[in-house]
Amino acid sequence: MANLDNFALVSQHLVMAEHLNPNHHIFGGQLLAWLDVDVYLFCSNQLRRRKMVTVSMNNVYFKAPAYLGDIIQIYARLKDTRRSSVTAAGKAVAYDPEKQTYREIIECEVTYVAVDNHNRPVRLFDTDSN
Ligand SMILES: CC(C)(COP(=O)(O)OP(=O)(O)OC[C@H]1O[C@@H](n2cnc3c(N)ncnc32)[C@H](O)[C@@H]1OP(=O)(O)O)[C@@H](O)C(=O)NCCC(=O)NCCS
Repeated sequence: MANLDNFALVSQHLVMAEHLNPNHHIFGGQLLAWLDVDVYLFCSNQLRRRKMVTVSMNNVYFKAPAYLGDIIQIYARLKDTRRSSVTAAGKAVAYDPEKQTYREIIECEVTYVAVDNHNRPVRLFDTDSN
């Protein structure tokens, strides 16, 4: 069972054949791609920021495999905001709608930097006194 306290559901994906690796498990890069985009959308909405770039993905932990037909739910939680950067925790779980259970697949932390139209870092908040 996954601990999803204070995490928000951001999106869901169905594992299809093109997401599998040669072991018939989900390809780890696919999970990272979903997390990168979905956690971005969460942060973008929370902070009302349209343009941010991913600067790092840390503490990536692949906990369990996912399989063809699994429903993958992506959850996110804000961890820290600084001058121009925000770090959020992301989790993916395999959700079973019949049993109403969650199996944790991966967790990680993603940091995004707010940038201007020239891709230079900008403050997240106008009132930021840093
Ligand atoms: C993100 C980027 C704009 C930062 O530029 P930079 O010249 O390093 O800027 P700064 O040194 O002023 O740092 C800006 C912020 O990034 C943070 N940062 C820089 N490198 C970091 C790292 N490896 N991990 C976490 N945060 C980092 C800094 O701590 C700083 O945060 P703060 O303003 O909240 O204190 C630049 O590195 C970049 O364009 N990277 C490529 C982004 C990209 O293409 N991503 C993939 C597609 S979205």
